[in-house]
Amino acid sequence: MVGVYFSGTGNTKHCVERFASEIDSEAKCFSIEDTQSVSELARHDTIIFGFPVYYSNIPKIAKDFIAQNSECFRGKKVFIIATRASFNAGGIVNAARMFKSCGGSVAGSLQLNMPNNIGDMLITKLVFSKNYEKIIERADRKIAKAARRFRLNKPVRSGLSVFNYILSGILSWLWFYPTTDRCIHAPAVDKAKCSGCGLCERICPMSNISVVGGEVVSGENCTVCYRCFNRCPQKALTVLGRKAYDQYKILQ
Ligand SMILES: Cc1cc2nc3c(=O)[nH]c(=O)nc-3n(C[C@H](O)[C@H](O)[C@H](O)COP(=O)(O)O)c2cc1C
Ligand code: SF4
Ligand code: SF4
Repeated sequence: MVGVYFSGTGNTKHCVERFASEIDSEAKCFSIEDTQSVSELARHDTIIFGFPVYYSNIPKIAKDFIAQNSECFRGKKVFIIATRASFNAGGIVNAARMFKSCGGSVAGSLQLNMPNNIGDMLITKLVFSKNYEKIIERADRKIAKAARRFRLNKPVRSGLSVFNYILSGILSWLWFYPTTDRCIHAPAVDKAKCSGCGLCERICPMSNISVVGGEVVSGENCTVCYRCFNRCPQKALTVLGRKAYDQYKILQ
């Protein structure tokens, strides 16, 4: 068994590692940003694949990874883990469709509420609870339960109900749904705050940021993961909103 995940800000990494270690203390987990992840996928028959839900969908970076390495999923059993702030309509359904079209089978799925990582929009700041430790503890208990069921060969299948299939069909007609497929021009930088330290350039999983002559230049290849926003030591970046309210750093 191997765990493979994309995690912008640490939630999904935490959940995949915890689930894998509850099942097999020797199991290793790799980020899709790690070049070793592909060879590890090829070596294992059971894969735990994790991603954060963006707009009720799979992030572009994770979708591209599955499509580019489709051969590694052929004939494999995939257990899907999706983390979210509160609601996932079609993320797991769409991932399951992708794994099936690669020739893999879905062994089960788990959706987990984790802290919201968008801190530059007033609406998310107002709606989501700030009790992050409690949210993580609850997710950890859910992971332990799901791992027990996996060991008993009765894996959970959350996010794969008829309701999810119907909602994913309806959502695919709405304007925001393909946002994850279109990489966007982000982030915006407040030049007065930016120190030119280069951290955002080093950590961006899409190589979407460069610091040229001390100034941040942002490309059009952003997967909206919010890593740069949450890690910037000067709170100088914003992604979808235009004001840095909170940075989420607990699991990074
Ligand atoms: C661009 C974007 C879109 C998001 N969309 C949703 C969503 O549709 N539903 C939801 O419950 N959470 C949503 N979230 C919250 C994340 O899914 C959640 O915080 C996740 O656990 C982050 O995982 P990570 O730390 O592994 O990146 C979104 C986050 C981002 C950055
Ligand atoms: S991490 Fe923040 S301060 Fe550092 S270069 Fe990027 S925007 Fe500027
Ligand atoms: S620019 Fe920021 S939000 Fe966009 S992919 Fe890079 S780190 Fe993630």
